[in-house]
Amino acid sequence: MSGEMLERVHSARRPAQFSGGEGGSDDENDGDESKTKKHISVAMRANNYLTRTGYLWPCLVLLLVSFLLIRSRNLVCVSSSYDPVSRMRFFGYEEPDSDFGSLGVPWCRSKHGKTIEWTTKDLLKGLEEFVPIYETRPIRNNMYGMGFDHSFGLWFIARWLKPDLMIESGAFKGHSTWVLRQALPDKPIVSLTPRHPEKYLKKGPAYVDGNCTYFAGKDFVDFGSLNWGNVMKKHGISDLSRVLIFFDDHQNELKRLKQALKAGFRHLVFEDNYDTGTGDHYSLRQICDQFYIRGGGHSCFKDSDEARIRTRRKKFWEKAVDIVELCGPGKAWWGVKGHMRDDFNHHNKAITYHNKAITYAEHFQNSRFVESVLDVYWELPPVAGPSLTHQTRYDPAREPSPIVEDGKFGLFQRLGLTRLENSVFNGYTQMVYLQISAQKS
Ligand SMILES: C[S@@+](CC[C@H](N)C(=O)[O-])C[C@H]1O[C@@H](n2cnc3c(N)ncnc32)[C@H](O)[C@@H]1O
Repeated sequence: MSGEMLERVHSARRPAQFSGGEGGSDDENDGDESKTKKHISVAMRANNYLTRTGYLWPCLVLLLVSFLLIRSRNLVCVSSSYDPVSRMRFFGYEEPDSDFGSLGVPWCRSKHGKTIEWTTKDLLKGLEEFVPIYETRPIRNNMYGMGFDHSFGLWFIARWLKPDLMIESGAFKGHSTWVLRQALPDKPIVSLTPRHPEKYLKKGPAYVDGNCTYFAGKDFVDFGSLNWGNVMKKHGISDLSRVLIFFDDHQNELKRLKQALKAGFRHLVFEDNYDTGTGDHYSLRQICDQFYIRGGGHSCFKDSDEARIRTRRKKFWEKAVDIVELCGPGKAWWGVKGHMRDDFNHHNKAITYHNKAITYAEHFQNSRFVESVLDVYWELPPVAGPSLTHQTRYDPAREPSPIVEDGKFGLFQRLGLTRLENSVFNGYTQMVYLQISAQKS
């Protein structure tokens, strides 16, 4: 699978992922140069005429009033009292469509400079197909589990890679199991989760899959302790590159990466790839947030530009963190306030391979280690800009550009995304797909 599906990769650490030409353009906004030129010449002719006849000023006033009316209608369409876009416009801050990535988007480097083979066009096609599927989900309100963005990302990646076996660690009520099942109806799933999803059925909606081997309840085994050789044998899998692993168990991702590598797996998805200063476990994003990475590293000086921008942005985005939250003692910013967290923040010091608090040098070494085993690193972008989804949580300044950019309401509507409740867009935390291989000694 991996050779076949991942050979058409090309080099770029931080690709301009969703720039035009890939079907990402909204028809309504598509530029037709000839039309534009025609408009200008008509406008110029009208202007000349009005100037000559003296009707210019009343006409300009009329035009201005019409323009303001149209604008206010747009705002009514997309705004609520909590809408970050209208709030930002009101306070005179920059438009969110130019906002994405303005505080840096750290990106783990692939050892070969490889990246994914799918394009924006593929993602848009996938979105069109997935929206009606998502509307049939058995767990309507999946609070504490995945929302729309990540459900789409997982479904898309599974469908693209077409593995022979899917493994998930952290199932909760079973929404992600259901998503995997929608991607590949006939492939087996292995699910590791302390509480069996069937337990949730007693209280409300949950999903239990008929072709899934559960290591749950009294049979629960942690991913790092399972004998994967036996499990693979039972499923008739000899090529581990035909297995996709989905982690949504809030464990230190470096720990999980090392465990997956040791077992010989190659394709991993981490659901909660938390940004630096946030989250309850050490994430790939945090690990790769280094000064030598474009958009990486931080300043903990209270008078820095970063401090000022962060303070301002915190007013608008629930998950934005200011310098006080980002930085720990001694200006330590890596991880969360200089700490490596694990297991839903039940451990937050030296939880992996050292018996002391993590140092910056170790954090740096971790990033070098990750790079040494990384073939592909790809963060799922948000599905659409906040003026469309009305999401109020993630700060666009730390994210890659969305698949459907702000302003492309026509496209958003055509994809069926207007039919979904706003709340399903609030759970984006940079889900990431990794392809890994062991270092050659
Ligand atoms: C955020 S929820 C998963 C949400 C789910 N994937 C979804 O889409 O709805 C995290 C889950 O991880 C489980 N968990 C906790 N520790 C775990 C471990 N060591 N291995 C696997 N799952 C674990 C929790 O019990 C919980 O069900």
